[in-house]
Amino acid sequence: MSRSIALAQRLLGVAERIVFFTGAGLGAESGIPTFRGSGGLWQGVRPETLATPQAFEEDPVRVWEWYQWRRRLIRDAPLHDGHRAIADVCRKKGAVVITQNVDGMHQRSGCESVAELHGSIWRSRCQVCEAEAPDESLDQAGVPLCPCGGPLRPAVVWFGESLPPAPWNEAQVELGSAAVVVVVGTSAVVQPAASLTELARRAGARVVEVNPEPVGDARDVIVDGGAAECLPLILAPCLT
Ligand code: OAD
Repeated sequence: MSRSIALAQRLLGVAERIVFFTGAGLGAESGIPTFRGSGGLWQGVRPETLATPQAFEEDPVRVWEWYQWRRRLIRDAPLHDGHRAIADVCRKKGAVVITQNVDGMHQRSGCESVAELHGSIWRSRCQVCEAEAPDESLDQAGVPLCPCGGPLRPAVVWFGESLPPAPWNEAQVELGSAAVVVVVGTSAVVQPAASLTELARRAGARVVEVNPEPVGDARDVIVDGGAAECLPLILAPCLT
C-alpha cells in the first residue's frame, strides 16, 4: 500500500468531522466529462459561449441543447465505488459534502447532506419571476416556459454570477469546523469555491487531496490516483 494512502487512512480513521469537497473529476470514471484537461468540456469551447447570462440571452436554444445533452449523459452515467464510499461515510459518520458539481450524483448515491455551490442541472429557474423548480425533462426541445410565461433557464451558476447564499454559507460553516477535508477531483481554479480549502486549513483542518494530477500546494496528504479506486481505500477505516 502506498505511503500516502496509509497516511490518509490514519487521519480519516480518527477524524471526528469529515467534509468532502468535490469537483468534476469525481464523475470522470462514471463517464461524465470534466471541464479542464484533455476531453474536458472547455476544450475547444469558450465557456462564455455556453455558461454565461449573456450566452443565454443571445442564444437560449443553443444553451439549452448543451444542457439537455449533459443531462442525458449524466442520466446514463453509473455511480462508481468512490461515490458509494463517500455516501457510506456520510451515513455512518455524519460527514457532509460540499460540491461544485451540478450532476446530482451525490444525492443519487444516497448522501443526504449536499451543499451544491454551483446549483443543479436537474432544476430550472424562471428568468422573469425567479421561481425555481425540479426539471428532469430530457427530450424538451427549445426553451421551456414557466407557468408565468417567462423563459426557464438551468438553475446552475454561470460565470459572472454569485453563488447561492445558502450553500455558500453552509460550506463556510462546515469547512470552518472540519477535522479533515477530502478534496476530490477539482482543479481548484474557479473562485470563490477554490478558496474554501484554504479557509479550512486556516481553521485547523487537515487536507487530503485525491486526484491523478494533483493541483493543491497546501495539502497534508496527496493521494495521486483516481477517485473510484482511491476513495474506498482511504475511507475504509471510517467504515469498520
Ligand atoms: P475541472 O474540470 O476544472 O478539474 C477536474 C479535476 O479532476 C482535475 O484536477 C483532474 O486532474 C481531476 N480528475 C480527473 N480524473 C479524475 C479522477 N478519476 N479522480 C479524481 N480526480 C480526477 O473541474 P472543477 O474543478 O470541478 O463551473 O471545475 C470547477 C468549475 O469550473 C465547475 O464547477 C464549472 C467549471 O467551469 C461553472 O460552470 C461555473
